[in-house]
Amino acid sequence: MKHLLLSSLALLSCSATAAFAANEVIPIRTNSTDLVLKVGPNNRLYQVYLGERLLNESDYQHLPWDVYAASDGSVCQRGWEVYNTGGSEEFFEPAIDITHTDGNTTTYLYYQSHEQRTVEGGTETIIRLADNRYPVQVTLHYVAYPEQDVIKTWSEIVHHEKADKKARNIAPNGCIQLRSVNSAMLYFRRPQYWLTEFSSDWAREAQMSSQQLQFGKKVVDTKLGSRAAMHSHPFFEVGLGQPAAEQQGEVLMGTIGWTGNWRYTLEVDNVGALRILPGLNPNTSAYQLKAGEVFTTPEFIFTISNQGTSLGSRHLHDWARKYQVRDGEKPRMSLLNNWENTYFDFDQEKLANLMKEAKTLGVDMFLLDDGWFGNGDHARNGDTAGLGDWEVNHAKLPGGVPALCDAADAAGVKFGIWIEPEMVNPMSDLFEKHPDWVIRQTNRETYYYRNQLVLDLANPAVQEYVYQVVAQILTDGSVNGDSRVCYFKWDCNSPITNIYSPYCKDKQSNLYVDHVRGVYNVMSRVKENFPNTPMMLCSGGGGRCDYEALKYFTEFWCSDDTDPIERLYIQWGFSQFFPAKAMCAHVTDWNRSASVKFRTDVASMCKLGFDIGLRHLNDDEIKYLQGAVANWHRLQGVILDGQQYRLVSPYESNHMAVNYVSASQQKAVLFAYDIHPRYKEPLSKVRLQGLDATKRYKVAEINLMPGEASTLSENGKVFSGDYLMKVGLDAFSQESQHSRVIELTAE
Ligand code: DGJ
Repeated sequence: MKHLLLSSLALLSCSATAAFAANEVIPIRTNSTDLVLKVGPNNRLYQVYLGERLLNESDYQHLPWDVYAASDGSVCQRGWEVYNTGGSEEFFEPAIDITHTDGNTTTYLYYQSHEQRTVEGGTETIIRLADNRYPVQVTLHYVAYPEQDVIKTWSEIVHHEKADKKARNIAPNGCIQLRSVNSAMLYFRRPQYWLTEFSSDWAREAQMSSQQLQFGKKVVDTKLGSRAAMHSHPFFEVGLGQPAAEQQGEVLMGTIGWTGNWRYTLEVDNVGALRILPGLNPNTSAYQLKAGEVFTTPEFIFTISNQGTSLGSRHLHDWARKYQVRDGEKPRMSLLNNWENTYFDFDQEKLANLMKEAKTLGVDMFLLDDGWFGNGDHARNGDTAGLGDWEVNHAKLPGGVPALCDAADAAGVKFGIWIEPEMVNPMSDLFEKHPDWVIRQTNRETYYYRNQLVLDLANPAVQEYVYQVVAQILTDGSVNGDSRVCYFKWDCNSPITNIYSPYCKDKQSNLYVDHVRGVYNVMSRVKENFPNTPMMLCSGGGGRCDYEALKYFTEFWCSDDTDPIERLYIQWGFSQFFPAKAMCAHVTDWNRSASVKFRTDVASMCKLGFDIGLRHLNDDEIKYLQGAVANWHRLQGVILDGQQYRLVSPYESNHMAVNYVSASQQKAVLFAYDIHPRYKEPLSKVRLQGLDATKRYKVAEINLMPGEASTLSENGKVFSGDYLMKVGLDAFSQESQHSRVIELTAE
């Protein structure tokens, strides 16, 4: 009876607003993009426009809500429903699919109200929709950042349904089931659509490939549970009308903020419209939602550029630094890591020597990687034991973290440390004590990924444990309350395997979502309580590269593949969506056939670090490195905070070039790389971008080997910005694995 009453109330309120709301227009605007929504005569909400901003708001009234023509030529009263629902007259992929407590699988959403409010960086539009038969409300959120042309959107779902006795087997606990749920839904009507996706694997991240989308669906997704990426990254581009290109054409660039199972559905329908649904991956994940609990989808962030991906990337970089990435406007620390130097084989003395090497290089910090914890049978001397036991290994490091901090102080560098707190090796004290804290199946043979399992972070007790582990390490060695552990590298090497949560009990299908939310609970608590500790996000290379996790992290590790040639492609790929400031690039011994200079010049275009031992290097190489580190520090404001212009693609040539320009346009840095030029290959000049055409810039090649004179013909000369952008510099060479770093200073 109560249920009926509620339903009728909802129905009443829908019809009450219907007359008033029909034709109501809701514009979501950035400086260059309009997303226009309109309430139809049936009181449902439709997308009537998405594209280049319309000059006259008065033209909104001309935008029809019913965009379809039926095949017999008659007008069909259907439009592009903004958040279309399963079980309605919509025949394509729905934005949301719900099973209600009585087993009914249909949902219809009607416009209730909307409001707009000012938020940091832009305007948030909040739109409330509700079913007229079931007490289910959906709230759509859109934050438009005008200057960056970025829109961030997500949805919230809440219901007040009662358990239905007659349908006990469907909803025994009064939950509705979200069989699929997306953050938003976007429509485009263009002659062609070209998808650029970013496929991936360990040591092969962010590989770009394009294909034309034809009728039907293309699904890009992951099912890794604990990370955003391994086989595909959570971002994509769609060339609207033509393949996505750097400098021209209309392109949509979108990315979802979710460190777990996500899915993009791109569907070209019967009339050639492209429907894009970014959301949670519904695979084994029908979410059981309790009455009164708000289900919030991941954020989907997108920009539309009319001048190709180059401009779109700059908009995303700007937006990310200002509004999304933790400490996005603060400087970053350069570092020396010991991972590839020592792997698990180190002791206090070896590390103290590396700290001295860090000082010799001139970097800010020494970062201690995996292998410093676990004792006895569970000592972390390889990857088979110790994860979970976060007590320092007494045999390797008798003085513990305080002694390491002292050694770093003595060397004159800061100290940072690696953790992987969400994981456990079966060979650990933690596993022996709390087997019920682990995601695993006791009635099947266990599948191990890197000999480890994932802790059940859906469980609040496990969240508390993980938080305390992190907090303890950060405060160990503190002096007068000040933490001397100045940096964290937070790793996550295993996807979720053996999917079963002892904690989730009869709600196993909630595990994937609740686990990720548990991870965020810990991360946000760490950020709140340790606001001054920068942190690197890492996941067996670049598996964690999403904008939700980056709210809690200052940067991410792009790949374990540090071969500079491979890195040119990997960094080109990630730079489509992430600012150089968030991308960690280290100089290592991968590909020793490339000079130390080439390897360092490649890493210098992002957040610079090292993972090499100086003992293998000669004096000239060490001198070169000292100069390069000093240059990077001096130019950090241009490289990490400036505007990035990708000039020459490694996908389209045997070279790569990118330049950065400071906000004042006083300084610029050009990085030019030759990969494997062909014999007698004709070389083009590199034309810079983003300079002030009227300014005059002095050209200086930097990062030269000691005693080496620049062979750049324009070195030391002065040119106008106009000349540099229209004519360019002879920055490329015929040599394989050759690089140039060129500093431009306005006079
Ligand atoms: C994977 C990371 O990507 C590496 O940089 C290193 O930290 C190892 N894990 C340590 O186990």
